[in-house]
Amino acid sequence: MSDKYHNSILDNHLQIINEEAMTDLGACLAKWVKLGTIIYLDGDLGAGKTTLVRGFLRAFGYHGAVKSPTFTVVEPYSLDNNMFYNYNELEDEVKLKADNGLMTKSRNDSIKVYHFDLYRLEDPEELEYLGIRDYLDGQAIALIEWPEKGYGVLPKADVIIKIIHQNQGRKINLLSQSENGAFIVSKLIANKNE
Ligand SMILES: Nc1ncnc2c1ncn2[C@@H]1O[C@H](COP(=O)(O)OP(=O)(O)OP(=O)(O)O)[C@@H](O)[C@H]1O
Ligand SMILES: [Mg+2]
Repeated sequence: MSDKYHNSILDNHLQIINEEAMTDLGACLAKWVKLGTIIYLDGDLGAGKTTLVRGFLRAFGYHGAVKSPTFTVVEPYSLDNNMFYNYNELEDEVKLKADNGLMTKSRNDSIKVYHFDLYRLEDPEELEYLGIRDYLDGQAIALIEWPEKGYGVLPKADVIIKIIHQNQGRKINLLSQSENGAFIVSKLIANKNE
C-alpha cells in the first residue's frame, strides 16, 4: 500500500475556513447522500451546524429560510424529486430504474428531509412522542443537531460530522458509522483533495 493511499484513508479531517466553505460542504453532502441517510451534526453553539444544513438544502434549489428548529425540534422539508436527482450524483441508478419501469416511487413524489435540533429536549423519550419512527422511515434524510440529547432513542447515524471551532474557521472530523456513511465520507474527503 502506498503512503498516499494509506494517508487518504486515515485522513478524515477538513478545514472549513468560512461560512461559504461550510455551505459548500453541505452541497457536497447533498451530491452523495442516499435516501434514508442519517447524519449527526455534532458541535457547540454557533459551530456552523445549521449553516451546513442550509448549504445542503440550497443545493437542491430550496431558497427559503433555514433556521435551527430549536423550539419545534424538527423542521420538515419536501424537495422536488427531479430537483433532487438532477443534483444528486446517484441519479443514474434511479433514472435507469425509471426507464425500465421499475420505479415504485413516482418521479413526482417529493423527497423528505428532516432537520432536527434536539438542544431543548429534556429526555430522549420525547422523540417517541414526536413520532420519530414515522419520520425516519428509511426513505427520509435526517440531519440532526445535538444528537447526544436523543441518545438511546435516536437511530444510529451513517455519518457523524463533528465541527470544532478553530481560530476564525472550523475543523471538521468525519466519522462513518455504516457502509453508506463510509462512502459519503470518502466523497467529502475526495472533494477536499480535488
Ligand atoms: N466554517 C465557518 N467558519 C466561520 N464561521 C462560520 C463557519 N460556519 C458557520 N459560521 C458562522 O457561525 C455562525 C453560527 O452558525 P450556525 O447557526 O450554523 O451554528 P449552529 O452550530 O447551528 O448553532 P446552534 O447550536 O446554536 O444551532 C454563523 O454566523 C455562521 O455564519
Ligand atoms: Mg443550529
